[in-house]
Amino acid sequence: MRKNPLAVLVLICAQLLTSYAQVKAQQADPPAYTIVGNDSVCQIFVYSSAPKDGLRLAYFTDDEQWKEVGQLCTSDYGQWGAEKRMYAPFVTKAFDGTWRAAWSVNDKAPCFAVAYSEDLITWRPQDYPVVREKGVLAPAIYQMDDGSFCIYLKTSQGKRCVLATEDFRGFKEDDFEAEADDILWVRDTATIAGKLMTGNIFDVPAVHLHFILDWFSKMAEQNARNSEQLPKSDEELKALTGKEFPAVVEASLTFDANQSKRISDRLVGIFFEDISRAADGGLYAEMVQNGDFEYNNDNHRQQWNAETAWTGASIATEQPLSENNPHYAVLTADTLSNIGWDGFSLRVGTKYDFSLYARVPEGKKKQVQVVLLAADGTVVSSAKMKLEGDIWQKYSTVMEVSKKVSETVLRKKGMRLALVPSGTVPVAVDMVSLFPQDTYKGHGLRKDLAEIIADLKPKFVRFPGGCMLHGDGLDNIYRWNESIGPLQDRKPARNIWNYHQTRGMGFYEYFQWCEDMGSEPLPVLAAGVPCQNSATNAQGLGGQQGGIPMADMPDYVQEVLDLIEWANGDPASSQWAKMRADAGHPAPFNLKMIGIGNEDLISTTFMERYLMICKAVKRKYPDIEVIGTVGPFHWPSSDYIEGWRIANDNKDVFSMVDEHYYEQPGWFVNNQDYYDAYDRDAPKVYLGEYASRGRDALDNALAEGIHLCQLERNGDVVEMASYAPLLSKDGYSNWSPDMIYFTNDTVRLSESYKMQWLFSVHHGDTYIPSTVDIAPELRKYVGVSIVKDSKTGNTWLKVVNALPKTLRLKVAGTVYELAARSAEAFAL
Ligand code: AHR
Repeated sequence: MRKNPLAVLVLICAQLLTSYAQVKAQQADPPAYTIVGNDSVCQIFVYSSAPKDGLRLAYFTDDEQWKEVGQLCTSDYGQWGAEKRMYAPFVTKAFDGTWRAAWSVNDKAPCFAVAYSEDLITWRPQDYPVVREKGVLAPAIYQMDDGSFCIYLKTSQGKRCVLATEDFRGFKEDDFEAEADDILWVRDTATIAGKLMTGNIFDVPAVHLHFILDWFSKMAEQNARNSEQLPKSDEELKALTGKEFPAVVEASLTFDANQSKRISDRLVGIFFEDISRAADGGLYAEMVQNGDFEYNNDNHRQQWNAETAWTGASIATEQPLSENNPHYAVLTADTLSNIGWDGFSLRVGTKYDFSLYARVPEGKKKQVQVVLLAADGTVVSSAKMKLEGDIWQKYSTVMEVSKKVSETVLRKKGMRLALVPSGTVPVAVDMVSLFPQDTYKGHGLRKDLAEIIADLKPKFVRFPGGCMLHGDGLDNIYRWNESIGPLQDRKPARNIWNYHQTRGMGFYEYFQWCEDMGSEPLPVLAAGVPCQNSATNAQGLGGQQGGIPMADMPDYVQEVLDLIEWANGDPASSQWAKMRADAGHPAPFNLKMIGIGNEDLISTTFMERYLMICKAVKRKYPDIEVIGTVGPFHWPSSDYIEGWRIANDNKDVFSMVDEHYYEQPGWFVNNQDYYDAYDRDAPKVYLGEYASRGRDALDNALAEGIHLCQLERNGDVVEMASYAPLLSKDGYSNWSPDMIYFTNDTVRLSESYKMQWLFSVHHGDTYIPSTVDIAPELRKYVGVSIVKDSKTGNTWLKVVNALPKTLRLKVAGTVYELAARSAEAFAL
């Protein structure tokens, strides 16, 4: 091992301070550290105890024992479950004191993993260089005199070398077999807690070790605070504060309207993703399930196929209605019936539009009776259709539920739709559909659900996700242009949440929905990479699968630009805008912003594609706000740090970045200053996904309310925020908690919905700072925010009382009383 002279130590201290300062750049209150070291040298051991445990660190104590410190990083490669493993990690310290790591991700993939760190604590998001042979067994890193690296690999065929640039961003495999002595792979051993481990031992200055130890202890303290629960009773409050308080807590609030500042007037919006059956079987009002006969076992449900939800279907594929919808049913003499989405929720005296496409053999005719049947056989509605003609044609009829049918019959489980044929002429049928006539503003969305959502008065709507937008693998990326046009020509797709998307609620319906609610559309498209948790593809690559090949990126970039043209262009001069007009919307949709990427791993593969897309959008449409992404977690996650670095380096491109976090109530309550120290000159924040995940729904809503007070206070930095996910159908949940729960017949609002409503409806564009005078131990459980809306002149005081006690708040001579664990808005 090379010993570090004092000069190097000074340099390292400076580097640590620099990297720490960079880490701090967007963070309110990071753990402080103290330089307690001198020029003495300590030994550390970097190793892995098990593939799932990632890279760990231990140090050699004064009593000559190896003491474990904790986990430095884990492998982010591939799917959750069988992947995310780190095999045979090899770590090296570069000449400049920075760190490089490489490991094998499994014994099958044609890639391995690399990572870079300045301080061993914060690791830059990982890269997975692709190599010619499958199965990289053991990478070993060697730094060359010019600073670049050779990463030697062992594969089943022999030894290979991948040349890496000094910054560990560029990787190129040598064409020939590597000549490397096995000594390169020899690693150190150390006994930790009685177990012999293999890894790499390094000498580091004491200051570095102290920095690491301090970081770990600060993180442990933070984690303990973040896992605190909200006090639900006097006993819990006493346990948290060490004090007893009276049944009614007195507090007073002072404010000075002259100290106000401008804040975002579009803070609260919604996040829509087809998760937990939010679209198909949910908001999209289509009542027939698998009406396109396109279910298949690709949907991760081995039992799904073209006949799913049908009985009596005989499936064919010759001369289909559309190449994007290759399957259809052949109706001969047997009845074809559909179970809907666990039945059909019908109402007495209500009309439904039934339609199908059919093709009848030349010169023949077919009569079909369309029947809605209750479980006990009662005919609830019936209509006749005459089909003829050997080209595909659409047939429609209106079905009305007879007034004679009782509610009891209608509400029984097992309602179905039957197509009862006469004669034996075989008829091809596809795109079988039943829609209530009464949908939200007549545009095909389930009215009760859509109205509840519209009540939130969302300032914007994000679509189509979430993970769904970047998809499970390259061939599952959501392509917006496959979701517009006639339904039969749209491309149905496997949903990342393991079901089938008809794409009936596609980009056209989404933009129409935004217009109907008076909300701004915020489409988010993939950054040229699929979800980093994607399954392995045919080449054996998992995770981001190497991204869309660079040769295909110009087409993908064009596809992104086409969306803007489709939404805003002039039908007279733009073929994309003409498609919009042909669909029924000649006027532009007035798209003002677009998001690129969804909580991606900010790998080099990602970064190249992301910047290519975002710069192209900004170049062609300078007025469109481009929203970037900073990974799935808040500070101090690697993607957050790297994502923010890219945004700050490209301020001319990014108006905002999309932050995501799902946290315990304790995190929200103990991080109320999270945004206070954010750089006011940096791109703004779009908090695109967040929710509290606590022991109960009210705890969550109160924590979110306290956070919303912080978001308003920092409304000059946080431009927009959307709780996620929005919808969940009972019995089909992919996620918890959610904002709105529903069945075919009912809608249930969560406490979080009520909190979002409170802040969205009582919004403003000006923030008036205030001070609450209350016992210091109780302060963090009370959220307050005063905003003024210059358009209406309204000034709103919102108070979130997360205390298990009544709160009496005096404001300018008036007393506002809030029940324990409640929130309210008051007009000032
Ligand atoms: O909101 C549910 C999921 O959470 C989203 O799809 C994804 O972006 C996040 O991980």
